Amino acid sequence: MYNVARGEMEMTWKFSWHGATLVLACVFLATAPFAAAQVPTGQAPPHKAHPPATPQSIAQGKMIFDGTCAVCHGVDGGGANGPNIQGAARTMGPEGLYNRVWGGVIGSGMPNFSYLGEDKIWDVVDYVGTLGQATGAAATGDPQKGKEAYQSSGCASCHSIDGRGGDSGPDLSDIGSERSASFLRDELLNPGANKPNGEPGLPSRAAYGGYRMYRVTLANGKVATGTRVNESSFSLQLRDAHGNIISVDKLKARSIEELPNESFMPSYKGKLSEAQLNDVVAYLASLEVRR
Ligand code: HEC
Ligand code: HEC
Repeated sequence: MYNVARGEMEMTWKFSWHGATLVLACVFLATAPFAAAQVPTGQAPPHKAHPPATPQSIAQGKMIFDGTCAVCHGVDGGGANGPNIQGAARTMGPEGLYNRVWGGVIGSGMPNFSYLGEDKIWDVVDYVGTLGQATGAAATGDPQKGKEAYQSSGCASCHSIDGRGGDSGPDLSDIGSERSASFLRDELLNPGANKPNGEPGLPSRAAYGGYRMYRVTLANGKVATGTRVNESSFSLQLRDAHGNIISVDKLKARSIEELPNESFMPSYKGKLSEAQLNDVVAYLASLEVRR
């Protein structure tokens, strides 16, 4: 009798194990399509309200930002492959920032960081709120005078704004929302130094790979310098300073070297006065497309 009872107990135990597995399998099957539909889209699921920022949360957020975000947004948030986010806390608010960090931006270079979890996302939000508060981050010049200096300095021969201008350099129609004032100033003084590598990043910057400069010594000893327009295993097409396309047979070239810090853009150091420089930066910073 004892044995029978024991046998029965074992039966029950085994049965419920199977039952549990079955229930789990059903739950999994039922929720799998649902889980797939739950890929972050920018609208975070319910989460706790923004805890007040503290020096600790900001310090924590800085560590995460430096290790995770700075590669695309720049150490000061002023923009690199990703846009300038120094003003993001102001325009998006903490809740908007939380959603953006949690869900990323589908179809862009902005990944989703839902894996960080609520606490760490709030820490990053607190740190992003402090970006750009350093002195000198804001553009102080006169945008109207800057526009005149832009027009008289030949910038438009290489750059387009709202569809007008050249195409040897990147389009600047949206540059104010992509770059901080300090980045823009540095670009005018040291072009090429901050060249984003173009991947992954803003869709509008995907063409940045095309601004990489190369110097090629051809078989006959001639030297050609240009930006890389196209490349395959056997050939490299460069565009020189005059817009001519030079096709290089890679197997025959004596040497091909990349010039990481060079750009066709001339430096405006000493060519624009300090006041003009501030004005041009203010003009560029004002070029924003509302997103
Ligand atoms: C791999 C590159 C990359 C990384 C890493 C990255 N971002 Fe982004 N981020 C982008 C790009 C590209 C966009 C622009 C997306 C768009 O709207 O097209 C963006 C957009 C944003 C925006 C919205 C800006 C606006 O004005 O719309 C915020 C805020 C932001 N990122 C914060 C962060 C934070 C915080 C981190 C780190 C946790 C981070 N990003 C990591 C590339 C990146
Ligand atoms: C001869 C062509 C040329 C001229 C003239 C020129 N640029 Fe550029 N510019 C470029 C190229 C090429 C790049 C991309 C490579 C780099 O970052 O240096 C660039 C990059 C930039 C960038 C950075 C864009 C970004 O997304 O980071 C800014 C801002 C800029 N130029 C502004 C100006 C202004 C303002 C002037 C005039 C005062 C000017 N440029 C004159 C060719 C030019």
